[in-house]
Amino acid sequence: MSTRPEPPPEFAAEQFRLACAQFATGIAIASTLDDAGQPHGMTVNSFTSVSMHPPQVLICVDITAGLLPIITKRGGFGLSFLAEHQQDLSSRFARRGQNRFESTPWIAGQSGVPLIPGALAHMECRIDQTIHTGDHAILISRVIAADISSGRPLLYFERGYRKLE
Ligand SMILES: Cc1cc2nc3c(=O)[nH]c(=O)nc-3n(C[C@H](O)[C@H](O)[C@H](O)COP(=O)(O)O)c2cc1C
Repeated sequence: MSTRPEPPPEFAAEQFRLACAQFATGIAIASTLDDAGQPHGMTVNSFTSVSMHPPQVLICVDITAGLLPIITKRGGFGLSFLAEHQQDLSSRFARRGQNRFESTPWIAGQSGVPLIPGALAHMECRIDQTIHTGDHAILISRVIAADISSGRPLLYFERGYRKLE
């Protein structure tokens, strides 16, 4: 039987981060309303389309993220896929300790969730299933509305923002 030793945890964590960073993604703002009708949101790149019939997507949210209990309570959220000129929004919605929507215009989707104008596409999602695993919650969600615009995407690769050449 193989007796390969476990790598030191710090090394494994850094290698894991570096390997993940080699996978280029788009960037979305996940957003919802609290009980008082106030908008909340955060930057995510863990978006994946899951199922065609029914239409389902998922995002993975850190269990310590302030947005998680708000999304869970409402049972749904919106997604705005950022265009290349919206890098400042990605940074703002990933920064701790500020009211991100205070200086961000938004529009209400059909289900009332806040959506970012100028995004390449919007989806409105209702949570079907939540899987808690490790330090994240996977929100498998039904897409109940979507709209698209044209434009160029904001990308994330090797821990930095990128644009299509
Ligand atoms: C490009 C980018 C992608 C991110 N993707 C995710 C993600 O998919 N899931 C997640 O939990 N955090 C992700 N984050 C980190 C969160 O945006 C950040 O931790 C969060 O906004 C903190 O919110 P809080 O202060 O409400 O806890 C990402 C950050 C950046 C810059």
